[in-house]
Amino acid sequence: MLDEKLLVELSAEKQYPIFINFDLIENLEKSVFNYTKANKILLVVSEKVNKIYGGKLNFKNSIKYVLKDGERQKNLKNYQRILNFALKNKLERKDAIVAIGGGVVGDISGFVAATYLRGIDFIQIPTTLLACVDSSVGGKVGINTDFGKNMVGAFYQPKAVFCNLNFLKTLDERQFKTGLSEVIKYAFIEKSCQAGYEYNFFEFLEKNSDKILSRDEEVLAKIIKISLELKASVVAKDEKEQGLRKILNFGHTLGHAIEKVTNYKKYTHGEAVAIGMNFAISLACKKGLITEEYKNQSFELIKKYNLVGKTPKFNQKKLIDAMYSDKKVEDGKIKFILPIRKASAECLDFNPEDFY
Ligand code: GLY
Repeated sequence: MLDEKLLVELSAEKQYPIFINFDLIENLEKSVFNYTKANKILLVVSEKVNKIYGGKLNFKNSIKYVLKDGERQKNLKNYQRILNFALKNKLERKDAIVAIGGGVVGDISGFVAATYLRGIDFIQIPTTLLACVDSSVGGKVGINTDFGKNMVGAFYQPKAVFCNLNFLKTLDERQFKTGLSEVIKYAFIEKSCQAGYEYNFFEFLEKNSDKILSRDEEVLAKIIKISLELKASVVAKDEKEQGLRKILNFGHTLGHAIEKVTNYKKYTHGEAVAIGMNFAISLACKKGLITEEYKNQSFELIKKYNLVGKTPKFNQKKLIDAMYSDKKVEDGKIKFILPIRKASAECLDFNPEDFY
């Protein structure tokens, strides 16, 4: 059975492993203690995951905080609640926080770990496809505010990431699809990730959609591994998003704005990103950056995975305002990641007129 170990190498002294396997969930406890000397562990667990797997997640000397599911939970109030829970339970500097859940659980508990006593050990156990291929790796932790998504946070790397793919078996279809959106994102940026290996991920995703959509274990493990190798390559080159890492936000400038103007209720993150990717592809073609042929091929790929329903109508002014509060705004200019040729993308300026 598949058992992979990848490394995120930020520097010679700063690196951490990502494990991808179908190990027994009960074994996670032992694996975690290989990466922390904690006496006490604060487990922050998604409510859904706790319902299904709670009985198998009884780590010794641990306390558990169960967080409701949904993007709206990634807020200042819950951040404070988790901090208070850690304080009340007297977590010490040597102790650790383990996030078991999707991106929301990982992001908010990582931010608690980054700030509690000025930083304690943090370990990620992603249980959704999206968290496996994106949010659990790379150290972006934080919370949403009324001013936008992830506007308060830190770069705080985990000690280790355990992608136990057994969790994906019980993931509901909508959550699975939202993760696929992030997987497909890597097909559009593969070459720009400079991983030193040609995966031809675009073609792989074109050819294997049936197997992927039916969650064939071998193929699923492969796309997760490729996505993570691409992400690890980018993060190793640009941990704090000074340049290259921006490409990981392909589809996200508009995606985040859509999530914000719809109050994080109507679309999942992946659905919003898929709409954002479609828009970026159209825009790139309009600007003459990519050919009509690649545009159509790209639309087809996204369509194969049925990630976007009917093209919704948004209040464009509200969307543009929301994009102006994106973290990527520089010197008052909105930045957009656009495809520039097959499997390559670049961060470019965006003019609001481009929207119409
Ligand atoms: N999710 C984008 C990044 O980690 O940079």
